[in-house]
Amino acid sequence: MNEPAPDLRPLYGTAPDVSVHHGQIWAGTPPEFFDYIDAHFDFRADDVWLISFPRSGTTWTYEIAHAVLQHGDIPALRAAQDGGKILKFLPLEIGIRTAAALPERVAAWKALPSPRVIPTHVPPQLFPKAAVATGCKLIYVVRDPRDVAVSLYHLHRSHKLLGSYKGPWDEFFECFIAGNVPYGRWLEHTRAWSAYVEAHPAAALRVQYESLKSDFASQVSRLGRFLGIDLPSAAVAAIAEHTSFRSMRGNPFTNRASNPVMDFSVAPFLRKGEVGDWQRKFTPVQSERIQTAWGATLQDIGLYSLAVPSVAT
Ligand code: A3P
Repeated sequence: MNEPAPDLRPLYGTAPDVSVHHGQIWAGTPPEFFDYIDAHFDFRADDVWLISFPRSGTTWTYEIAHAVLQHGDIPALRAAQDGGKILKFLPLEIGIRTAAALPERVAAWKALPSPRVIPTHVPPQLFPKAAVATGCKLIYVVRDPRDVAVSLYHLHRSHKLLGSYKGPWDEFFECFIAGNVPYGRWLEHTRAWSAYVEAHPAAALRVQYESLKSDFASQVSRLGRFLGIDLPSAAVAAIAEHTSFRSMRGNPFTNRASNPVMDFSVAPFLRKGEVGDWQRKFTPVQSERIQTAWGATLQDIGLYSLAVPSVAT
């Protein structure tokens, strides 16, 4: 399944863990990952899979989903985290690096009690069929691609495994639009997952980053209903406080400050947490290009208009 690698420079010139297989660029995911997961992962019906393109608010939603599953009981959530019953956020396929490390990754997930929240960025065609067969639930998080692009740019600058990118924004923008980044073109990833969610309304829920920002309480209640949990308003308030940007940035369990592969002096993992930051970075030409290239497709999907200012529908 290995394909001849396209020229990964300039983004990944010094990154040994960046590779190309299964039709896209991967960071820290060996090609053997998929067969190994199919054969050895313990797929459970009460798993909650958390799916997104990187930098869409996955870490945030991961913490929210766990807090919801604890019915908003934050001390219980912290106890589960401190007791090793919940892993720090790390998508299932990321940071494995070599096939030799696959058993350890799977064992870490097998050791967790149910219900697990399992984050991944894989596209639907690579999502494990055995997971779907269990009847598990899927939460799909999506964010305005312009904010994703800017956030991903800063991640590439700060992340050693992604090559500590030192090039200009303009060059990064071109790679993002072309899909020359891990998980490929945002538009295809989003189109495919949106179609999946639409086709499986009982099993899958789409959550928009911008809606979480603008109407947290109703979005969390909606998430609770999807997971079969009716949240009283005090629980929603506790979750809002615990998962606020400020709280998560100050919380060692969620802020990744101790992660040795990230240089926070360049950009922290929880960087700004805003809607519309792209407006400070995109040139007018870039704004127009992304709107022309992706706007019509997104309109069909019923997502972002890509007009200025950023609009979540
Ligand atoms: P920015 O770089 O724009 O700040 P992911 O977890 O999918 O990689 O997404 C990371 C993005 O989500 C970052 O965006 C990060 O700051 C933002 N984020 C993380 N926690 C958040 C929170 N509690 N509230 C708002 N945004 C948050």
